[in-house]
Amino acid sequence: MREYSPLNRVNVEPEHLPVMLEETLRCLAPQPGETMLDGTLGLGGHAVEILRGLIPGGTLVGIDRDPQALERASARLDGVGGEYRLLHGTFDALGQLLREAGLGPDGALDGLLLDLGVSSMQLDRAERGFSFRNDGPLDMRMDPGAGESAASWLAAVPVEELSRVIRRYGEEPQAGRIARGIDRYRQEQRIETTGQLASLIEELVPRRGKKIHPATRTFQAIRIVINRELDCLRETLERLDRYMKPGGRVVVLSYHSLEDRLVKEAFRQRVKEGLFLAHPAGLLRPSETEVSSNPRSRSARLRAAVRPGG
Ligand SMILES: C[S@@+](CC[C@H](N)C(=O)[O-])C[C@H]1O[C@@H](n2cnc3c(N)ncnc32)[C@H](O)[C@@H]1O
Repeated sequence: MREYSPLNRVNVEPEHLPVMLEETLRCLAPQPGETMLDGTLGLGGHAVEILRGLIPGGTLVGIDRDPQALERASARLDGVGGEYRLLHGTFDALGQLLREAGLGPDGALDGLLLDLGVSSMQLDRAERGFSFRNDGPLDMRMDPGAGESAASWLAAVPVEELSRVIRRYGEEPQAGRIARGIDRYRQEQRIETTGQLASLIEELVPRRGKKIHPATRTFQAIRIVINRELDCLRETLERLDRYMKPGGRVVVLSYHSLEDRLVKEAFRQRVKEGLFLAHPAGLLRPSETEVSSNPRSRSARLRAAVRPGG
């Protein structure tokens, strides 16, 4: 764990809009003096509004695995004026991060938010290598300083494993064809850029009038594996009760069915065990107005749970 201390303060991209902000705040219901954690700080869109609700006397803790996100969010949080701490790391190491930052013991949180997936900044910046629309190095690491890039993973992964990953994490019906095509291609040439991979997939599975780009599902699958996204989520959901105070509220925003299934199952199980109560809000989806002003919210699903007592 490295506690983040902001050096270069920069402005936040104006196009970034936090998804389902109103619904998130309604479920988290931040109160003055409380301690809340945003485990996926991103550009701080949700965190800024949560922090406002915690003033006076409360603390917001923000975690992100992407150092650039911490830098950008801190510039925004400074403008709010409340107490906040930012920590660099992955949210599955939440207990350890909190202890190392002296914010333990476990069970210290009144609210916890996970807004899953990648941020608009990560997607839009070609050099981060997430996007098939903007050509850049095939990287896809949310933390560019940790783990293996997508290019080096793709160079070495056995073809059967590649096919399994694309089918499972991309829910791509053409997974076998795409994996075999990538395998043939890489025997001649290493795949180093997002543009190279996107056009290869477009050749392997032409569009045929479909709305989404043929590489969408494969890019999603590789990104999930490179960042251990589902493992991080599963491990965190298993231990959620430890971090929450009685009466503490948890909100998770997910963007594809694999994530949402994990959240739905985990909440159902914790409710059965008596560790959580289902939030009366149930499953929430973005309003039509939000989807039309922020198309990235289209696939969002919000689930919430409450720790009994308090
Ligand atoms: C969808 S964005 C969050 C946007 C944010 N709510 C906002 O309004 O600006 C997700 C962020 O979570 C981070 N992230 C994803 N998985 C993570 C993990 N396991 N641990 C820590 N950060 C993670 C990403 O780096 C990204 O910055």
